[in-house]
Amino acid sequence: MFTLEFFTGTEMTDIKKTQHEEWSSRFAFILAATGSAVGLGNIWKFPYITGENGGGAFVLVYVLCVALIGIPIMMAETLLGRRSRQNPVNTMVLLTEEAQADKNWHYLGWMGITAGFLILSYYSVIAGWASAYVLKAFFGSFFSADAIEIKGIFYDFIASPIQLIFWHTLFMVSTMWIVAQGVSNGLEKSVRFLMPGLCLLLILLVAYAMTTSGYFQGLNFLFRPDFSKLTPGSVLTAMGQAFFTLSLGMGSVMVYGSYLPKSVSIAKASIIIASADTIVALLAGIIIFPIVFTHNLHPDSGPGLIFQTLPIAFGSMTGGWLFGILFFVMLVFAALTSSIALIEPAVAWLVEGKGLTRKKACIWSGLATWLLGFGTIFSFNNWSTFKIFDRSIFELLDYLTANLMLPIGGFCIAVFAGWIMKPHHSEEELNLPKPSHHLWKILVCYVAPLAVFLVFLHVIGIL
Ligand code: PHE
Repeated sequence: MFTLEFFTGTEMTDIKKTQHEEWSSRFAFILAATGSAVGLGNIWKFPYITGENGGGAFVLVYVLCVALIGIPIMMAETLLGRRSRQNPVNTMVLLTEEAQADKNWHYLGWMGITAGFLILSYYSVIAGWASAYVLKAFFGSFFSADAIEIKGIFYDFIASPIQLIFWHTLFMVSTMWIVAQGVSNGLEKSVRFLMPGLCLLLILLVAYAMTTSGYFQGLNFLFRPDFSKLTPGSVLTAMGQAFFTLSLGMGSVMVYGSYLPKSVSIAKASIIIASADTIVALLAGIIIFPIVFTHNLHPDSGPGLIFQTLPIAFGSMTGGWLFGILFFVMLVFAALTSSIALIEPAVAWLVEGKGLTRKKACIWSGLATWLLGFGTIFSFNNWSTFKIFDRSIFELLDYLTANLMLPIGGFCIAVFAGWIMKPHHSEEELNLPKPSHHLWKILVCYVAPLAVFLVFLHVIGIL
């Protein structure tokens, strides 16, 4: 262990540089970052907001947002992490010193860690639902059930705090156990196993969807743009989803970037990760919408789309028992590789900033997240009438993080990398040919911050 000291004006910043681990290869980083990106956002959220926003035209805007805003900001976030090779809090301290910028930039790291912790507290509860549905599918709970019965199963389930606590606990323990094993043992080994499994399951389910009578109707809905259905609101929703789905704006990408060897091209890796994430979201749509149309379900059923309507399909289709199990197993896998990324910034900070062992850091951050999760659990039952600013605890956490903290974080990351950092430092990290670097500069200095600003205005209700 050695110490780096930075002198700034009257104050001295003393950051202990612990031995920071590294991914074993570019492939390992890509797998892990793709695992972080692909989660409930792709498989649960993307289909239902696509359903609510009219299909094809929304999908087109979403893909454009990923390409024009998501990829440049992902490159920016990765380069910040790799330059400092530290957790997000230390990253912002070090890079602020390096750029001789205002100390308020330090808060960006803190906000990221806080956002990850808050998101995981509810993410784990929803992932717990998916875990419970694996068992429900296994025991044939959906067999021959109609829409009302399926709805009943869902509401009975979320009305039971004990059941939700059990599944939330199980999911949190699994997440923290993986994170405790460390970067190469825990994160890397788990995604090496989880990501290929996820791909296999997706392909199997797409093959199933191709045999359904609603297949072409589903494809039409997803890929034929009807611009009359596009409102300014849905354009902005598509942009917000691009952020959440790529795990941008809260330090996950930064901390994964900090484990990235210097030899790896950040631009290439970001393009691969964003493409893989988009493909998974589209595949999820290709699986879900044909089933929705085959069974005359409604694409705009909202957040309950998966839990309240897909089981109807699984309960009545040939092979539905097996496909139902596979689908929810896939959802749990996808959530697990995202949740380890949500907590890694906090764990890395506790280890590097507070000197805790990795195991202890996992126990404390896991315990705190687990406890906070009770707020979400009770907001579906015992405390369902308790509202703050007209929102349940779950809705408030979701709003605070996805709608406020991620867009603000992304905006600040773009501004920091594009305007504050010394240009030759970002050039050095990205190591791109001149025209490509110029393109990135335009996107990260102008296009991305402006677009995020619009998202922000939208979520706070000004636009
Ligand atoms: N991208 C994840 C998903 O789509 C969610 C996530 C957000 C994960 C932020 C890490 C950080 O489900």
